Amino acid sequence: MKHPRDKRRDSRPQPSRKGAPAPMPTRERAERHERKVEQHAPARQDVPVEARSEPRKLARREGALPAERLPLILEVAPNDDYALLDSGNGQKLEQYGPYRIVRPEGQAIWLPALPAKEWDRVDAVFTGDTDEEGLGRWRFPKTPLGETWPMRHDGMSYQGRFTSFRHVGVFPEQATHWDHMARLIEEAKRPVKVLNLFGYTGLASLVAARAGAEVTHVDASKKAIGWARENQEMAGLSKKPIRWICEDAMKFVEREERRGSHYDIILFDPPAYGRGPKGEVWQLFEGLPAMADICRSILTPKPLAVMLTAYSIRSSFFAIHALMRDTFAGMGGTIESGELVIREKSAGRALSTSLFSRWVAK
Ligand SMILES: C[S@@+](CC[C@H](N)C(=O)[O-])C[C@H]1O[C@@H](n2cnc3c(N)ncnc32)[C@H](O)[C@@H]1O
Repeated sequence: MKHPRDKRRDSRPQPSRKGAPAPMPTRERAERHERKVEQHAPARQDVPVEARSEPRKLARREGALPAERLPLILEVAPNDDYALLDSGNGQKLEQYGPYRIVRPEGQAIWLPALPAKEWDRVDAVFTGDTDEEGLGRWRFPKTPLGETWPMRHDGMSYQGRFTSFRHVGVFPEQATHWDHMARLIEEAKRPVKVLNLFGYTGLASLVAARAGAEVTHVDASKKAIGWARENQEMAGLSKKPIRWICEDAMKFVEREERRGSHYDIILFDPPAYGRGPKGEVWQLFEGLPAMADICRSILTPKPLAVMLTAYSIRSSFFAIHALMRDTFAGMGGTIESGELVIREKSAGRALSTSLFSRWVAK
C-alpha cells in the first residue's frame, strides 16, 4: 500500500469538492454523498414522496434563556474498543476492535505522524471503487474479511460492518454523549424514557437501555433498524425495553406531540440531508427549528436532557447553540455547545467530527 503521503498521486477518488466551496467543519463534508446513497431504499426514484403535514408555525418561546456553557469540546481518547491511531493527507488510520482500517478523512490536512510501515499494516482500506457485488469499495491487504466483525463499546458487544458507504456502523465520537446520557439515567433513580431520533445502528439506544431506560428508537432505514436489532441481540439486551420504529423522524415527533407522549431524554443526530421511508425529505437547515421545538414540547415535566449533534455544512456551533437556547427559553438548565472531537494516538492532534448543542436540566 502507498503511504498516505503519496496520496496526491493515488488514483483513488478524493472527497468531492462539488458544491462545497467553503470548508465544512465536519465529517459531513467527506460523507455527504455517501449518506445520500445510504438512504438507499427511501431515496429510490420509484418511491412516491409523501408530504408531511403543514410546516409548523414557530413562535418565540417566553421566559429566561437557559444558562450557557461554550465552547465545550467533548473528546474521545484512544481506548481498547476504538482508537484513531494516526491521520494525515486526507486519510485516517483507525483501530476498530481487532481491525486496523484506513478511510478518507477530509479534515486531516496535516502530514501523518506514523511511518509508512504502520499504514501498510492494515486489515482494510476503503477504496471508494464502485462494485455492485459483495464488498466493493473495501480492499483487504492481508486476508479477505467477512462483511461483519464483533466490536465492543464499554463492555457491550455489537456488530462492525464494512458498508459500501465507508461507514462501519458506529460514530465513535458519540461515545461522550452516550456516557453522559447513561450517567443521567442512572443518577435519576426513577424510570426514564429516552427517544433516539435518526438512531442508525442503535448504539445510543443500547447504552440507554443498559443504563435502565425505556427506549424508543426511530430511523428511516429498514436496513439500519435490522442491524440495530441484531446489535441488541449481540449485546445481550434483547429483554430490555426498546421500541424499534422505522419512520420519518419528523412525522414521528409530530405524531407523538398529537398523542401527548413524553420523554425525559431526547437525542437527535440528523444528517444534513435524508429521506423518510416514504420519500419524505429531511433538510437540516429547514427541519431543525421545527424539530427542536417539537422535541421541547414532548418532554416530561421533569426532563433530563436534549442532545443535538449536527454534521452540518457551513455552520458553526454558535448557530445550533442560539437555536437551542431560544427553543429552551423558560426551562432553566444550561445549553452546552461545541464540537465532538477524537484525540489521535500518534501525535495527539484533535480530529473534529461534528458540532453539538445540548440542553441539560442541571
Ligand atoms: C448521522 S446517522 C445517525 C448516527 C447515530 N446517531 C449514531 O450515533 O450512530 C443518520 C441516520 O438518520 C437516518 N435518517 C435519515 N433521514 C431520516 C428521516 N427523514 N427520518 C428518520 N431517520 C432518517 C439514516 O437512516 C441514518 O441511519
